[in-house]
Amino acid sequence: MSFTLDTIVPWGRSFDEYVAMFALTNNDLQKHILGCGDGPAAFNATLTAQGGRVTSIDPLYQCSAHDIRQRINETYDTVLAQTRNNQHEFVWKSIHSVEELGQIRLAAMNDFLADYERGKQQARYLAHELPQLPFANQQFDLAICSHLLFLYSEQLSLAFHFEAILELCRVANEVRIFPLLELGAKPSRHLQTVADMLEKQGYNIIVRKVNYEFQRGGNQMMQIEKIA
Ligand SMILES: C[S@@+](CC[C@H](N)C(=O)[O-])C[C@H]1O[C@@H](n2cnc3c(N)ncnc32)[C@H](O)[C@@H]1O
Repeated sequence: MSFTLDTIVPWGRSFDEYVAMFALTNNDLQKHILGCGDGPAAFNATLTAQGGRVTSIDPLYQCSAHDIRQRINETYDTVLAQTRNNQHEFVWKSIHSVEELGQIRLAAMNDFLADYERGKQQARYLAHELPQLPFANQQFDLAICSHLLFLYSEQLSLAFHFEAILELCRVANEVRIFPLLELGAKPSRHLQTVADMLEKQGYNIIVRKVNYEFQRGGNQMMQIEKIA
């Protein structure tokens, strides 16, 4: 299916959320990182400003900053209204209210937009999409994927998940995926089968509890490495 901006809802998390979701240490932040499906998140902008090395891929990056901003403005109220209607699915501990959530997400997306044109010139924002990536084997130390794989288990098949994760494992030495829940705050229907399939291919799978939980029960990250 070809990508169109009017079918997507741009929604980006902050650098601090990425650090918590993926349990990123100072050592991890020195690595060459691939962010997969980063959308309008602020991770790339902030890490680059701190001297880090990060490339983000997302089909969204076919679009101009102007068009992404317009789409954020068009969809922002709807996303907040949906969150308000489903407040019980979230943990309001670090983020205390729907209004605060909106402010945090908007600040992150504004940081992304301020960095976007320069980042595109520097090839830090590339319009590619899983399950195939145009990178060399082990080009990155670490690939991270936030709120795409497993979250959209109803929309993205088991075969897609398996192919996409193998591709991430091809281009990076280590892969981390968060969350392990699908929409509706239920465990992903693909999780166990994907883990079994990856283990059969010689990968070591660790499910780690992390210090981040916004989707209720969504406080686990999958870490995947090739067994040497
Ligand atoms: C819910 S957003 C998450 C954005 C960001 N990772 C975050 O956590 O704030 C999901 C993103 O995945 C992107 N996406 C959808 N299909 C993709 C694919 N096949 N490969 C890479 N990214 C994809 C969307 O364009 C969107 O920006």
